[in-house]
Amino acid sequence: MIKAENLSMIYGKDFKAVDGLSFDIKPGEIVGFAGPNGAGKTTAIKMLTGILKPAEGRAMVNGFDVVKDPIKAKENFAYVADNPDMLLQLSGIEYINFIANLYKVPMEKREARINEMADRFSIRDSLGRPMREYSHGMRQKTMVIAALIHEPPAWILDEPMTGLDPTAAFVLKQMMKEHAAKNNAVLFSTHVLEVAEKLCDRIIIINHGKSLYQGTVEELEKEHPGKDLEAIFMEMVSS
Ligand SMILES: Nc1ncnc2c1ncn2[C@@H]1O[C@H](COP(=O)(O)OP(=O)(O)O)[C@@H](O)[C@H]1O
Ligand SMILES: [Mg+2]
Repeated sequence: MIKAENLSMIYGKDFKAVDGLSFDIKPGEIVGFAGPNGAGKTTAIKMLTGILKPAEGRAMVNGFDVVKDPIKAKENFAYVADNPDMLLQLSGIEYINFIANLYKVPMEKREARINEMADRFSIRDSLGRPMREYSHGMRQKTMVIAALIHEPPAWILDEPMTGLDPTAAFVLKQMMKEHAAKNNAVLFSTHVLEVAEKLCDRIIIINHGKSLYQGTVEELEKEHPGKDLEAIFMEMVSS
């Protein structure tokens, strides 16, 4: 459902930030996209979401080519960027409604959805305040609510747990599980291995823009007897 086909991205003259990356996230799967800082996770996600045009390869969401059929593709995914500092002059509710308008979410459905998610994230009382007064975590929660407002099948989240308190992180993980259980797909990047280990059906490990491993944590640990995920990860990305 979320498909990277031989994706590459070149910055400047010849710096390959993503190098021939391929994967396919199937309906029902939660996949963690792991790799050290600078590995190319955000760059890959920006190609999957149509923010950056790939130098090579193709990104597909729910069967739609992100470059050739951008509107259809965008209807099919939610994207949470790695930085929630957007349109801070708006209040939380103004921002969410702005996004809901773009996606033409009907008023009734929208209200029910905002109320449900805002309650789960305990942010309902603050939605009327300008986002510039929000903490990082409050901005992050608002971005998540806005991104999910049109209920797309694919979720693509760039470091979504960053800045969330433990309760909010738990709620978001719960939401990911519920979403995947309805035969939808979730891809999220993280540099926190514990989250990937606990939550994901599969992990993709990249470094220097290349895929080093795709599969379950269990299989990976079987391939490296006596080592835990952290030790294996450090060994893999040290070269
Ligand atoms: N706009 C840009 N211009 C030039 N280099 C960039 C740009 N964005 C990212 N990079 C470089 O590309 C590499 C991958 O970055 P990024 O995709 O942000 O990694 P990650 O999200 O895994 O931390 C890094 O070396 C980074 O410095
Ligand atoms: Mg990043």
